[in-house]
Amino acid sequence: MRLILLGPPGAGKGTQAKMLNEKFRKPQISTGNILRKAIQNGTDLGNRAKVFMNAGKLVQDDVVIGLIKERIVEEDCRAGFILDGFPRTIIQAEKLTETLEEMGLLINAVVDFEVDSEELLNRLTGRSTCSNCGAMFHRTSRPPLKDGVCDSCEGKLHQREDDKEETIKKRLEVYEQETAPLKEYYKKQGNLKTVKGCGAVEEIFSRVCAMVS
Ligand code: AP5
Repeated sequence: MRLILLGPPGAGKGTQAKMLNEKFRKPQISTGNILRKAIQNGTDLGNRAKVFMNAGKLVQDDVVIGLIKERIVEEDCRAGFILDGFPRTIIQAEKLTETLEEMGLLINAVVDFEVDSEELLNRLTGRSTCSNCGAMFHRTSRPPLKDGVCDSCEGKLHQREDDKEETIKKRLEVYEQETAPLKEYYKKQGNLKTVKGCGAVEEIFSRVCAMVS
C-alpha cells in the first residue's frame, strides 16, 4: 500500500495518516513533521526551513524531494507508506513518480480531503500539539482532559508557530496556487479519490478505508 494524502492545511491529513498507520502498519511520512523535528533540533535544514514555514510558504522543492528520496528507501517502507503533506507541487509529484518508477513501484491511491475554508480556519486556530509526543488536540472537537496538558504523555501543549490566523491565510493561498493543481495531475493518472473531509474523524476514516482497501 502506497498512499498519498492530499488536501489543504487542516484537512485532517495528519489525523487520518496516523489512524491508517495504526490500522495498516505502514509508516506515516509527514514532511511537515520531519521539518519541525529539524527545527526543534536546531539543524542546518531546520534553520533554513523555519523561515519559510513560519511565513506560511513552501520549503524549496529540492530540499523536500531529497528528504523523501532518502526516507522511502528505508527498510520500513518496503511494504508501503503513507505520504502526508508530500507532494505539494507539480515538480515534487513528477519527481516522486520518476523515483518510484525507477524502483519499479507505483502509487496505489491519492486521497484528497475536501473541507470548506471556514472549517479549515476553525480547525487550525483551535489546534494544540504536544511538544513531547506530537499528539494533536482541538479546543472544541478534541479538548485535552487537563488544560494545556497532553492526555497521552502529560507533555506540554503548544500552538504551532504557523497556526496564527494571518499565517493560516497565507498557507491556504499557497495551497490553492501550488498544491491544488495536483488534483488534476493525479486525476489524469487515474488514481485520485475524493473524500468528504467533514464530519467525525472515525466516519471519515471509514470512508478512507473503504476506498483504499
Ligand atoms: P504540514 O505540517 O504538512 O502542514 P499542513 O499541510 O498545512 O497540514 P496541517 O498539519 O496543518 O493539517 P492536516 O491536514 O494534517 O490536519 P490535521 O490532521 O493536523 O506543513 C507545514 C509546513 O511545512 C508547510 O506550510 C511548509 O512550509 C512545510 N512543508 C511541509 N511539507 C512540504 C512540502 N512537501 N513541500 C514544501 N514545504 C513543505 O488536523 C488539523 C486540526 O483539525 C487538529 O486539531 C485536528 O484535531 C482537527 N481535526 C482533524 N480532523 C477533524 C475532524 N474530522 N473534525 C474536527 N476536527 C478535526
